[in-house]
Amino acid sequence: MNNKPKNAKNETPPDNRFFTPSRSQEDLAIRPTSLSSFIGQEKVKEKLQIYIQAAKGRGEPLDHVLLYGPPGLGKTTLVGIIAHEMGGQLRTTTGPTLERAGDLAAIVSNVENNDVLFIDEIHRIPAQVEEILYPAMEDFSLHIVVGKGPLAKTISMSLPRFTLCGATTRMGLLTSPLRARFGIVEQLSLYTDQELSLIVRRGARAFGVEILDEAVIEIARRSRGTPRVSLGLLKRVRDVAAVKGSGVITGDMVDKAMDMLDIDLNGLNESDRRIVRTITDLFDGGPVGLSTLAAAMNEDTQTIEVYNEPFLIQKGLIERTPRGRKVTNNGYAYLGKTPIIKTQGETLLLPLDLDEDKAGENA
Ligand SMILES: Nc1ncnc2c1ncn2[C@@H]1O[C@H](COP(=O)(O)OP(=O)(O)O)[C@@H](O)[C@H]1O
Ligand SMILES: [Mg+2]
Repeated sequence: MNNKPKNAKNETPPDNRFFTPSRSQEDLAIRPTSLSSFIGQEKVKEKLQIYIQAAKGRGEPLDHVLLYGPPGLGKTTLVGIIAHEMGGQLRTTTGPTLERAGDLAAIVSNVENNDVLFIDEIHRIPAQVEEILYPAMEDFSLHIVVGKGPLAKTISMSLPRFTLCGATTRMGLLTSPLRARFGIVEQLSLYTDQELSLIVRRGARAFGVEILDEAVIEIARRSRGTPRVSLGLLKRVRDVAAVKGSGVITGDMVDKAMDMLDIDLNGLNESDRRIVRTITDLFDGGPVGLSTLAAAMNEDTQTIEVYNEPFLIQKGLIERTPRGRKVTNNGYAYLGKTPIIKTQGETLLLPLDLDEDKAGENA
């Protein structure tokens, strides 16, 4: 029953406005479609495997799932896998496209049993839409108010038993009532170089290009812990290889592509380096608050927080403290500089007489 073929209604969704268009064929081809072909995130996968199997055993839909973590780590991919493994259709929409309560009503009234409704960037749904979502998630019922004032009335309908999957890069922006309605909440973390190597190799196979081990590792190391970056770099390297014409991707070709993209040996790009430099040069290594840092860099706080910071922290170049962001000793070493010693600093690397000189300099 879980795997019953879908009827004609599903082949042509009546209202396409709120559904996200599909990606290019190539991108779809490299997207894993089963938990077993999804590389890394072992703990999350293991839990999902159990929950899916248990739900199927009971003949029930999977509990609502919320996935969060930096962009490009596989949230959308995992949601696709969940739909596939549950044997339901996947319906995709995004928080910001759901402007009015009716937009969401139009979508949920078209789902079927075991379907997965995916709301990407779920932290961006407006409050009035969120309210419709609560009963839909809890009791599979829809309550819409039609009309205004004394003539207003509520229309209620019951919905098929579907699974809502939400994804967000900004967990902190989700309201607690919404968060509380997800039975399964999982955080995706950055990938290891080894996992990324597997992803690069898999990507190369999908692209039909031959690649040397040295090149695989070089790409993985420069991928900021992120599969999307791995695959993006692989595409650029493939371009270099195509022009160089040898047919096989070598370490040299990776180096050439990385030079062109201004990505260094550690995988840092210019915006990453600017962050480390700004904290060091303008704020004596920190701690500095995120908004102050962003203002100094003429960058927005979200980009720094969501895109750059997780990677810089993973690399051990900066750290988050209750008082703000700080450059670590590692970060100084990366810039080829010596840490400035502060009176309350935890890191006294310089002799004390130098400390006094520095203090005088900064006063
Ligand atoms: N664990 C993985 N194994 C293989 N490919 C992956 C994995 N995670 C992500 N990808 C690939 O990386 C890209 C970005 O993944 P996506 O699911 O869109 O990330 P997110 O939704 O978290 O931003 C996709 O092309 C996807 O195929
Ligand atoms: Mg996504």
